[in-house]
Amino acid sequence: MTVQENISLKPYNTFGIDAKARFFCEITSLEELRNALKLKDHQEKFILSGGSNMLITKDIDALVLYIHIKGIHVNSENENHVTVEVMAGENWHDMVLWTLDQNYGGLENLSLIPGYTGTAPIQNIGAYGVELKDCFVSCEAMDMETLELKTFSKEACQFGYRDSYFKNEGKGRYIITSVKFQLTKKDHKLNTSYGAIETEMEQQQVTNPTIKDVSDAVVAIRKSKLPDPKELGNSGSFFKNPVLTKNEFELFIKHNPEAHYFKVSEEEYKVPAGWLIEQCGFKGKRFGDAGVHKNQALVLVNYGNASGKEIIELAHTIQKKVWDNFGIEIVPEVNIIK
Ligand code: EPU
Repeated sequence: MTVQENISLKPYNTFGIDAKARFFCEITSLEELRNALKLKDHQEKFILSGGSNMLITKDIDALVLYIHIKGIHVNSENENHVTVEVMAGENWHDMVLWTLDQNYGGLENLSLIPGYTGTAPIQNIGAYGVELKDCFVSCEAMDMETLELKTFSKEACQFGYRDSYFKNEGKGRYIITSVKFQLTKKDHKLNTSYGAIETEMEQQQVTNPTIKDVSDAVVAIRKSKLPDPKELGNSGSFFKNPVLTKNEFELFIKHNPEAHYFKVSEEEYKVPAGWLIEQCGFKGKRFGDAGVHKNQALVLVNYGNASGKEIIELAHTIQKKVWDNFGIEIVPEVNIIK
């Protein structure tokens, strides 16, 4: 375990923000993690994983612990199901591809999501009708103070829409070190209800879809809408889709009858923030090196040398315009490092 100094974090965050870490240390085992947390010379620690859901707005004057602990293994299995334990530093999409190679079903709709497995539970990643919580069994996390490992059940994680215990009461206290998923070995329950998946599979003339076909469809949809962070810096959806109460929604739809929406429950309606932002005229717009993606207005992009501050300024401009035009508050989904 080596502590390096003044390291650029540009390769470590998918937004490609060129901020510096005062100290930086790659962690490849639980033992290294414990030892690093014990380092008395470095009181301030900053936990970095795949860097796919953060916007860094300043240099980080701390010891950055880059969690790169690898490993995937089958924990238990029976005729129908398998429980797989994945270490935190495994790349999410590579891990999903591994499950598909074994013909394990459940994660196919979550294909091509950037980032590492350990951070997936923090915001309960979701896409195309499936959320992480649907296959989640438990995770292990290290308490940064006691250095003990603790198991969090699904209930303990308190998953919500892009939300969990680790974003609330547990924030800043635990480092997730591994995640367990329960997957199907046969009779896979395909989730193709999200319109775009069906359309994509029709185009590919898939009639009897397998989990790999669903994954391929999701990959194709994502590639057509979402920029590849290797080519254009971004953090996926920058904002959450706002959830309106029934009363708020009725007023909104009266004034915007053409709006897209999704009914969550009798009392709650989700309005796509991408639609709201597009209506405000931001889609495809560029402000210096910061911009709004041309195919999906919910994604803010870095054309090369935008600073975190420039991206956040653009985000504020968008939030204000959406508020002025629709009276709806949109809040970032991305973790903003101030
Ligand atoms: N829309 C527009 N204009 C846009 C973008 C979207 O009108 O520029 C409309 C679409 O026409 C559609 C609706 O908004 O009617 C929803 O769009 P889409 O299916 O692209 O999904 P989203 O609500 O914008 C969410 C997730 C994505 C996830 C997709 C698919 C959030 C914050 N985002 O986006 O997650 O991939 O659904 O399930 O919930 C991420 O979190 O980083 C992410 C990419």
